[in-house]
Amino acid sequence: MGIRIKGTGRYVPEKILNNADLEKMVDTSDEWIVTRTGIKERHIAADNETTSDMATKAALAALENAGITADQLDFIIVSTVTPDHAFPCTAALVQKKIGAGQCPCFDQEAACSGLLYAFNTAYALMSSPLAYKRVLVIGAEKMTSLVDWSDRSTCVLFGDAAAAFVLENDGDPETGDFYVAGELGADGNWSDILQVPGGGSANPPTHQTVDDKLHFLKMGGPKTFHMAVLSMTNACRAVLEKSGKTIDDIAWAIPHQANRRIIDAVAERIGCPEKVYLNVDRYGNTSSASIGICLDELNRSGNLKRGDLILTASFGAGLTWASMLIRW
Ligand SMILES: CC(C)(COP(=O)(O)OP(=O)(O)OC[C@H]1O[C@@H](n2cnc3c(N)ncnc32)[C@H](O)[C@@H]1OP(=O)(O)O)[C@@H](O)C(=O)NCCC(=O)NCCS
Repeated sequence: MGIRIKGTGRYVPEKILNNADLEKMVDTSDEWIVTRTGIKERHIAADNETTSDMATKAALAALENAGITADQLDFIIVSTVTPDHAFPCTAALVQKKIGAGQCPCFDQEAACSGLLYAFNTAYALMSSPLAYKRVLVIGAEKMTSLVDWSDRSTCVLFGDAAAAFVLENDGDPETGDFYVAGELGADGNWSDILQVPGGGSANPPTHQTVDDKLHFLKMGGPKTFHMAVLSMTNACRAVLEKSGKTIDDIAWAIPHQANRRIIDAVAERIGCPEKVYLNVDRYGNTSSASIGICLDELNRSGNLKRGDLILTASFGAGLTWASMLIRW
C-alpha cells in the first residue's frame, strides 16, 4: 500500500470576534481570556453560513491541492458535532456541493477527537478488502451555533472553521503509509461534563427546553481541563510506544487547540514544548477542525518535509480522546 495525504485545505469565516468585542458582551476581560486560555480572537460564521458551506470550501481547496477532481473521490467522511441537520448527513450535502457523483458518505461524531477518529476510519476503509482508493476526510464545525453568548465561561472559547484532506492509495508499497500508529479511547462515565443537553431524543426541543437554554453547550471547565491533560498525555505515550519512536523522532507535535495551558501541560509531560504548533490564539477551539487547520497551515507554509513524523493528539466530549502519528 501507499496511503498518503495527497492534499490539504482549510476555510475560516471572514468575521473575527476578538476579546475586546467579548468584553462588550459579557463580564470578561482580554487579560482573563489570554491568561486562562491563550485565545485572542476567533472566526465566526455568518448567520446563513452552514457547516456544509464551510466544509465545501475546505474540500475544494484540498482537491485543488491534491490535483484531483471531485468525481475521482470514492468516499467522503465529515466529522462534526454541528451538522446542518439531524439528517441528511452533512457529508451528503458536501458531496452534492462539490459535485462528487454518488460516492458513499457519512458523518462521524467524536466531538473534538473527531478528525483523528475519521482518519482512522478512512485508513481502515482504504487498507481493508474494501480498498477505497481516494477518501475525502473533513473536520467542520459551526461551534458558535451551540454557544450561549451570555455564558462567559464558555462563549470565549470557541470558533468556526473547516479543514479537509484528500487521502489517496497510490498502490506503491515504497511510498509508506501516512498512518504510522494510533490510539483511540473513550469513557462514557464522563459524558455529562461536556454536553448539549437539549435538542436530541433525550430532550426533544420544546419551548421549555429553549427557555431553559438546553440547546447550548454546557461544560465543567476545571474537570474537562484535568481529563484533557491526562488523556492526551497517555494517548501520546501509547502511540510513541506502539510505533517504537521517541519524541526526538518527531518533527512537529499538533495537539487539539482548545486551551494554551492544556497544550503547555501536555507538551511538558511528553517533553516536546519546542515542537508544538500553535494557533489557538487566532482561532480558539474549532473542535474537529482544529488539528486539520494546523496541518494545512504547516503544509501550505512549506514547513512539512516528505517523511516528517507528526504527533497529533485530541480530546473532546464523550469523553473521547485520540492520538495519531502521521508520516508526511
Ligand atoms: C474554561 C477554563 C478556561 C476556565 O478556567 P479556570 O481557571 O478553570 O477557571 P474556573 O472555571 O475555575 O473559574 C475561575 C473564575 O473565573 C470566572 N470566569 C469564568 N469565565 C470567565 C471569563 N470569561 N471571564 C472572567 N471570569 C471568568 C469564574 O466565574 C470563576 O469565578 P469565581 O472564582 O468567582 O467563581 C478552563 O477550565 C478550561 O480551559 N477548561 C477546559 C475547557 C476546554 O478545553 N473545553 C473544550 C474541550 S474540547
